[in-house]
Amino acid sequence: MSELVLELRNVHKAIKGKKIIKGINLELFSGEVLGFLGPNGSGKTTTLRMIVGLIRMTKGEVFIAGHSIEKDFVKAMKNVGCIIENPEMYDYLSGWENLKILASMEKGITKERMKEVVSLVGMEKRIDDKVYTYSLGMKQRLGIAQAIMKRPKLLILDEPANGLDPAGISEFRKLIQKLAHEESMAVLVSSHILAEIEMMCDRVAIIKQGEVVQVTTVKNIVKDQGIIWKIKEVQQGKKILEEEFQTAVQLKEDQTLLAFIGEDQVSMVNKRFMEADVGLLYVNKNQKSLEDLFLALTAGDEIV
Ligand SMILES: Nc1ncnc2c1ncn2[C@@H]1O[C@H](COP(=O)(O)OP(=O)(O)OP(=O)(O)O)[C@@H](O)[C@H]1O
Ligand SMILES: [Mg+2]
Repeated sequence: MSELVLELRNVHKAIKGKKIIKGINLELFSGEVLGFLGPNGSGKTTTLRMIVGLIRMTKGEVFIAGHSIEKDFVKAMKNVGCIIENPEMYDYLSGWENLKILASMEKGITKERMKEVVSLVGMEKRIDDKVYTYSLGMKQRLGIAQAIMKRPKLLILDEPANGLDPAGISEFRKLIQKLAHEESMAVLVSSHILAEIEMMCDRVAIIKQGEVVQVTTVKNIVKDQGIIWKIKEVQQGKKILEEEFQTAVQLKEDQTLLAFIGEDQVSMVNKRFMEADVGLLYVNKNQKSLEDLFLALTAGDEIV
């Protein structure tokens, strides 16, 4: 059974009279990774900072594990682990010593739990090395170990994939999915890069100028973006897609075919293309930029 871990109700924030967050509603359940996707300046960090109480909201309510952050701040915060600004770490101490310092400040964190988180984040081999010898990815892992040591129900990470290479992002994705799916944590990660969110998350909330304009599954975003085929017999391929898969197809300038179908249907289309001998050269996801996605979502609104 998944539990409602985070709920935002009509959350607003104005700074010096400027409306920055304009009525956000959001729900996050245990066991899922929700991506908070939006361009620079759209209000991701501001929203996350309000959720963890670093700044106050102007209006609205936030509940964490059922506790209002305004009325029951301490109880609510007991359930949150986060990395919003850079995680606090002592460079000249080892990873393990850093964890020990934090453990001494929290009640009930045993050595076993510390070992458990070290293994969860895959830092067994390097945990006794000094933090200044760590790579960015290792520091990120240690940060997460610190954030999850007290077994929070909610983990909040602001732009966690910043600076990681694709292999690092892939590793990181495995880690947060493990936390969500095996430890039943609810994970909220922000990013301004669609491909990152697509890799890491189950659902995505798209934020634009302080408003959540869409909440959807990652699968649907991919579907909305479409699939591209490069084939020799474009007209024949177009006909197959239209008639056999009942999908709208665009023949693009570069003579590729763009169709909006689910990823699960791609192999069936490919099979048909092979059978029909249309000369299939390659198939790809149509990687639209986030801006394109926003244009599609907002029907031509200007993006600021
Ligand atoms: N203390 C502040 N005073 C004035 N304006 C602020 C303040 N904090 C944030 N803002 C404004 O609020 C808007 C949202 O900023 P925020 O940092 O939440 O965006 P973001 O989505 O996290 O962007 P990024 O992807 O660049 O991290 C921006 O226009 C920013 O300039
Ligand atoms: Mg930010």
